[in-house]
Amino acid sequence: MPRKIFVTSALPNANGPIHLGHMLEHIQTDIWVRFQRMRGHEVIYTCADDTHGTATMLKAEEEDTTPEELIERVRVEHQLDFENFLVNHDNYYSTHSQENQYYSELIYTKLKEKGLIIKKDVEQLFDKHKGLFLADRFIKGTCPKCHAEDQYGDNCQVCGATYDATELVNSRSVYSGEPPELKKSEHFFFDLAQFGEFLKDWLGQNPVRSEVANKLREWLEDGLRPWDISRDAPYFGFEIPNYPNKYFYVWLDAPIGYLASHKNFLSEDTEEFSKYWNEDTTTELYHFIGKDIIYFHALFFPALLLKANFRQPTGVFAHGFLTIDGEKMSKSKGTFILADTYLKHLDPQFIRYYFSTKLTEGIEDIDLNLEDFIQKTNSDLVGKYINLASRSSNFITKYFNGTLSEIDENHELLQLSRKAAEKIFIHYENREFSKATKEIMLLADKTNQYFDNNKPWEEIKKDNNSLLAHEVCSVTLLMFKNISIFLSPILPNIFKESQGFLNLKNLSWADLDLDLSGHTINEYSPLITRIEKESISRIIEDSKE
Ligand code: MSP
Ligand code: ZN
Repeated sequence: MPRKIFVTSALPNANGPIHLGHMLEHIQTDIWVRFQRMRGHEVIYTCADDTHGTATMLKAEEEDTTPEELIERVRVEHQLDFENFLVNHDNYYSTHSQENQYYSELIYTKLKEKGLIIKKDVEQLFDKHKGLFLADRFIKGTCPKCHAEDQYGDNCQVCGATYDATELVNSRSVYSGEPPELKKSEHFFFDLAQFGEFLKDWLGQNPVRSEVANKLREWLEDGLRPWDISRDAPYFGFEIPNYPNKYFYVWLDAPIGYLASHKNFLSEDTEEFSKYWNEDTTTELYHFIGKDIIYFHALFFPALLLKANFRQPTGVFAHGFLTIDGEKMSKSKGTFILADTYLKHLDPQFIRYYFSTKLTEGIEDIDLNLEDFIQKTNSDLVGKYINLASRSSNFITKYFNGTLSEIDENHELLQLSRKAAEKIFIHYENREFSKATKEIMLLADKTNQYFDNNKPWEEIKKDNNSLLAHEVCSVTLLMFKNISIFLSPILPNIFKESQGFLNLKNLSWADLDLDLSGHTINEYSPLITRIEKESISRIIEDSKE
């Protein structure tokens, strides 16, 4: 039975461009989605821009435009970046949408009806010149512990201390440069404290990996506190019904944006929408996210869904952060690499492959080592994989009219391929892409060795019609077909071109067993070329501030 699966990547913030860190997540998701589709399952993969909040408002002000214009421009850019990296979202929407407003209000209203919204006075730092309450990031001052200057309102970059923004010495607003003052205001809180038992039960269904579950259980043991879901005007977001000048905090409507994007994709098909979101659904729901936003996805969001009578996520898949040459991406070092900068110099499939060789189901950080990136791409993709096609097709085209020989279905390499398929399938399913690629490259190695050992180039010299040479090249091409199928979720364009070269169409997982005895192929022309060192230097150069 085909499974019905709904998949999301986290919604990128609309106040900045897409960089390779975002791309890591979308590539991971996209590969998993392509794999599931290839297995015959019905998958919907949507995303959206996360548009609301003070940052968007201020950015628009800076650029002398409206938030609405800004977010629409950015959405188009983001969408294009993803398309260019071959990330195949079914819908790329916006949280600033009718659908999202509808579901945010619906969920809020249900919480309110159930007595889960509490009101409390909050004292917060306020920039009276700007008329704005200040989030911690927008306050700077001297660290109260080590006296380092120019530190943010929540923690010190120098000594690592965490503190309250009110404890900063000589604090000032980053907008006006003036000292902020304390101001009282009424905030709305979602009473999360009541959800401890429910969340423990939900964790019992294994929606997250054990190390993440342990972290979450720790948080649950410490007790959950009410969650502040309102912000005061001026704010760019949805106004809270019946409370003018109070807005939903961006993190309330952001995850609800998953539902909104799905609804927008399905348009009028409310029945299909209910099939996915009803409490008693048999469909599956997966969120791919970075490790920094686990709290929102594994505590707040399930609780919101529960009280609005929606289903729970089946899985929340967290990944680690991308580092480059072992360090945080940095604008001054030129390693804060934007998606479109990368694309000016390199094929997106190279980084899709490289990320795959590193991705696991875990939350360890993932390092893009630039030397290793060049080396691995050239050696694995060009040297091992594509080489199978180029070296064997030559002989087939030149001496055998482009037609393959009879191939024994029990050939040793085909048996290996069958065994590997089972493992590769499980690795993809479990998001262990690094194990999957290892397994696949092992097949490429074995096939290259087989070719080398049988020396078809020598056999042909002896006899233009050499049966052995014909068979060796044919088996090698059959293995090239299989390896192409195995790599297809990672390398969608190369897969298309390989099929053109092999003179085959719509290959899928089931075609691993497709016999190519007597099949005629097309002439080979290079499918990819090596990465040159200069391309990397140019990317770094272009990324420097
Ligand atoms: N807008 C929120 C998500 C809302 S989801 C309902 C957000 N946006 S973000 O633009 O900051 O990040 C989007 C995703 O990209 C997050 O999952 C985040 O973890 C991921 N990454 C951002 N920088 C990253 C790296 N350097 N490396 C890997 N992933 C990173 O959070
Ligand atoms: Zn300090």
